[in-house]
Amino acid sequence: MHAIALRRGARAPEVIETPRPEPDTDEVLVRTLRVGVDGTDHEVIAGHHGGFPAGDDHLVLGHEAVGVVEDPNGTAFKQGDIVVPTVRRPLPDGPTEYFERGEPDMSPPEDVIERGITGGHGFMSEYFTSSTEFLLPIPDELAEWGFLVEPISIAEKAIELARASRSAFDWQPESALVLGNGSLGLLTTAMLTESFDRVYCLGRRDRPDPTIDIIEELGATYVDSRETPVSEIPGVYEPMDFIFEATGYPKHAFESIEALAPNGVAALLGVPDEWTFEVDGGALHRELVMHNKALVGSVNSGYRHFEAAIETLSGLPEWLLDDLVTGIFDSSNVEEAFANDETTIKAAVKFYDNEER
Ligand code: NAP
Ligand code: BGC
Ligand code: ZN
Repeated sequence: MHAIALRRGARAPEVIETPRPEPDTDEVLVRTLRVGVDGTDHEVIAGHHGGFPAGDDHLVLGHEAVGVVEDPNGTAFKQGDIVVPTVRRPLPDGPTEYFERGEPDMSPPEDVIERGITGGHGFMSEYFTSSTEFLLPIPDELAEWGFLVEPISIAEKAIELARASRSAFDWQPESALVLGNGSLGLLTTAMLTESFDRVYCLGRRDRPDPTIDIIEELGATYVDSRETPVSEIPGVYEPMDFIFEATGYPKHAFESIEALAPNGVAALLGVPDEWTFEVDGGALHRELVMHNKALVGSVNSGYRHFEAAIETLSGLPEWLLDDLVTGIFDSSNVEEAFANDETTIKAAVKFYDNEER
């Protein structure tokens, strides 16, 4: 079968031939429909994040998948069920504590495999197998867009953690700022417009730009980081009750503290490289303490966040999905699927149509 993989030492993915996997006990064989591409895939390809499976000369990419059960293999799944896999798996001889308590997303990252990212092959192949505990059924009508469940689940978890950090008092947030107009930032902007009165999304693009069009169509306000640095946002716009960082630009972690309103919280999602720079640590420390502000980091997502994401996806307007997903590419068209230009917001690779056999 075809798969899209990154070979050791390569800086671009390629199509490879690999054997079709056989499902083990309690595993299901899934025929892959679509697999999304995100900023993390580009970081893996650039060699800034992730790692190859031990002993293999390549990593099959892809962690945002939707597929159809081909062989239920005696499990409770049925042939034809539309399913979405979660990303984390236990290491062969590693600790299983976080899996046993149903919270692999809270595990230290060195103790897990992340399929398509670190230590285990991903879902960009015609077929993949998965244990049933890591597969969620989704409604048939979401088959086309099911690859968005994983990225939405990432936002669900971060928002949950941020809200939990404010649960000890009567927090009534009104303003939210998303840093980053990539696919994660735009999906989150759409989600936040449901629960916040005023939502802002920050980028560094000139108009006309398709991401700015989406931000404005959602009723949110576009903030250009070249004109208004994050720390100056309160003076130019307003202090923010909630900030969701999805740029991977490390200065934003610290500038967020200044952009928050008293009692506000910022969730950090980006996975930056090392970068040494100066901050006024005293002022930031004081600001966090004296205004009861919080910073929370959030990585990966759990089963419950996937369930919430399925619900959220089914409520997103069709125009948004059409505008956000700028390309669905055949699996032979690797170059275009992984193009990283300003016209690409979200790309996905298509292996099969749902109706195809
Ligand atoms: P993406 O498509 O690369 O989006 C990042 C966006 O941030 C881009 O649109 C980029 O703008 C913008 N940006 C970067 N620096 C900026 C700056 N200084 N000012 C304004 N805008 C800036 O990536 P993504 O898939 O949306 O993911 C976003 C980040 O979250 C990545 O770092 C990714 O690794 C991380 N992530 C984390 C998790 C987790 O579990 N924690 C999950 C998914 C993704 P331009 O395109 O104009 O350069
Ligand atoms: C994935 C997460 C993963 C994180 C860190 C993200 O792009 O969506 O599932 O935990 O990268 O590797
Ligand atoms: Zn991702």
